This record gives sequence, C-alpha cells and structure tokens, in this order.
Amino acid sequence: MPYAAYVFDAYGTLFDVHAAVRHHAGDVGPEYQRFSELWRAKQLEYSWTRALMGAYRDFWQLTEEALDYTFQRIPEVDRSLRAKLLDAYWKLDCYPEVPAVLRSLKARGARVAILSNGAPAMLKSAVDNAALDTVIDDIFSVDALRTYKTAPAVYDVVTTSYRLYPGSVSFQSSNRWDVAGATKFGFRTVWINRTGMPDEYADLGPSLILPTLEALE
Ligand code: LAC
Repeated sequence: MPYAAYVFDAYGTLFDVHAAVRHHAGDVGPEYQRFSELWRAKQLEYSWTRALMGAYRDFWQLTEEALDYTFQRIPEVDRSLRAKLLDAYWKLDCYPEVPAVLRSLKARGARVAILSNGAPAMLKSAVDNAALDTVIDDIFSVDALRTYKTAPAVYDVVTTSYRLYPGSVSFQSSNRWDVAGATKFGFRTVWINRTGMPDEYADLGPSLILPTLEALE
C-alpha cells in the first residue's frame, strides 16, 4: 500500500460542479456554460479573499452570493431559477469512475477521505446523494477552522487527525491551485486534469497528472 490515506477535494474532483447548471441548461439558455463558469469563479474568489481578510463566511453563503452576482452579470438568465440551481448543488453528480476507484482504495486498506471548502451539510448531502457514504471514512471541512484552502492549516487537518506525515498522504484535486497548496504543504499530489487545462504554479507541481481518477494508485 503506497499511501496510508487518499484524500480528495470535493468540487470538481469527485462531484461535477457544472452539473447544477447543466441539469437546467434548457431553462438557463444558451449562456449556460458561461453562467456556470462565472458562478464557480466567483465562489472561489470569495473563498480566497475572505480567507486572506479573516472574514469567514461558510461556503454555502459564498455559493449563494456568487450565484446572485452571476445573475446580475448575465441578466438574460431568469432569476426565478435561483432556488432550482441552488437546490441542484446539494445533489451534484459524481464523476462516473469515482465509486469504483474509492472502493478499490478502501479494499486495499487505505483511509479514504474528503478535504473540502464545502460546508459540512453540503458535503454530507453530496456524499449521501452519490451513495459514497459507505466508502468515505471522513469528511474534513474547512468550516471547523473558519478559513479556506490554500491555508496550510486546512491541509494540516488531515495529518493531525490521522497522525500521519504529509508524505504518507496522497491528495487528489482537479483544481490546480488546490494542488499547489497541497504540494506546498508536503502531500503527494495528483492533479486530475479533467478538462485538459494548461499547467500553472510551475514551482508547486503535482507528483502526477491524470485525466480522471481511474488510474490512481
Ligand atoms: C473544494 C473546492 C475547492 O471542494 O473544490 O474544496
């Protein structure tokens, strides 16, 4: 068993963040992809600025605030979709390979966990909805710390809880900025580059790049 624990980012890595808008693409209209990208980009921006300021609000609030901003920026989209789009966020699709990959890691004796910016209730709902509750040992949320990735204290939650050295933890994320933070902290990192994005943060590169979680070892 090469790593004692396999820890996964949630949004974009296990769960498809763009599924919320895609499920309502017909109602959102032709701008649905731009709408979803902007919603996600603002949600993340708010997490970074609030972490730097020390002015924490939980990720659900940031998700709502980012959506309201996106409605203002793309006024063609009908605001009466607000409740439906937010509701979809509690039951995002997981990527197709996720259940089998997590099951196989767990069968090999590794601990399997989530480390996410998400608020605990959001994460629990997504995990239950995707029927991953029996394979995920722990859901670590930043909420206990009231800050966000890429603060080193967030990654440290895993090593402290599991009493492991960072090098014994394999951390998987589709978010390149999250991989940079986890690499800086000392985890073995795997960038799941699902959408063929160019590399960034050259000094904080992943140990491995994979197109999906499928070949994770
Ligand atoms: C998370 C976001 C950053 O799950 O994707 O932490």
